[in-house]
Amino acid sequence: MTDAPALETVGLGKRWRSARGDVDAVVDVTLTVPRGAFVVVTGPSGGGKTTLLSLLVALERPTSGRVRVDGADLAAASEAERSRVRRRVGFAFQGAPQVRRLPVWENVTLALVPTGVGAAARRARALEVLGRVGLAALVDERPERLSGGELQRVALARALVTAPPVLVADEPTSNLDRASAAAVLGVLREEHARGTTVLVATHDLALLALATATYAMEAGRLRATGASPDGAAR
Ligand SMILES: Nc1ncnc2c1ncn2[C@@H]1O[C@H](COP(=O)(O)OP(=O)(O)OP(=O)(O)O)[C@@H](O)[C@H]1O
Ligand SMILES: [Mg+2]
Repeated sequence: MTDAPALETVGLGKRWRSARGDVDAVVDVTLTVPRGAFVVVTGPSGGGKTTLLSLLVALERPTSGRVRVDGADLAAASEAERSRVRRRVGFAFQGAPQVRRLPVWENVTLALVPTGVGAAARRARALEVLGRVGLAALVDERPERLSGGELQRVALARALVTAPPVLVADEPTSNLDRASAAAVLGVLREEHARGTTVLVATHDLALLALATATYAMEAGRLRATGASPDGAAR
């Protein structure tokens, strides 16, 4: 299983049922993300990027096709296997819900609770990952007092807290000023350099500089638009 790609989809499809009728948000997507890749998915608003990412991290179930994480088929996996797989994939999504009554550090480290890490160690870990996204000062703040851009960086900190081998981020630099966006870009670069497989959806062309492979998604279809010469070299 260790030779399997970090993420893989075969004939993946998602049809949303909505007020305006059925929407084919993801259409027949077959994608392989090798270990150590940095994949950037761009494309017009409404093209299906967020939907694709939500299928990859098992937030949503596909209408057709398969998703494999580390070679394990998410649809066929038992609940125990699904949660094991989920723990291997950190994800940072726009508007990720926060538990309002808990301070930022507790929200950031929720994933560590089941592993039995004590409160003091969790707060220290939260400080570390919040520091990486420039938000150490907010460690004890309540999430409802944070700005949109701050919440977005909190979501990234939360994704990093378990040091997952795979990181999936939806528009990690949107809503951010130039300095904060550069900090997030730096974090993604560091993660990739330490061997993390990264997949981001973005409108931010600055992220293309980090990519080992790029794709465009439009009307649910994913199209390869390039691979850097060193590809997924690690
Ligand atoms: N929960 C949902 N129910 C019904 N339709 C949805 C749902 N989520 C997304 N859609 C529709 O699916 C299509 C793809 O949306 P998606 O959010 O995946 O696009 P996107 O590429 O992420 O866009 P953006 O760049 O604006 O974030 C759109 O037509 C959208 O309206
Ligand atoms: Mg989106």
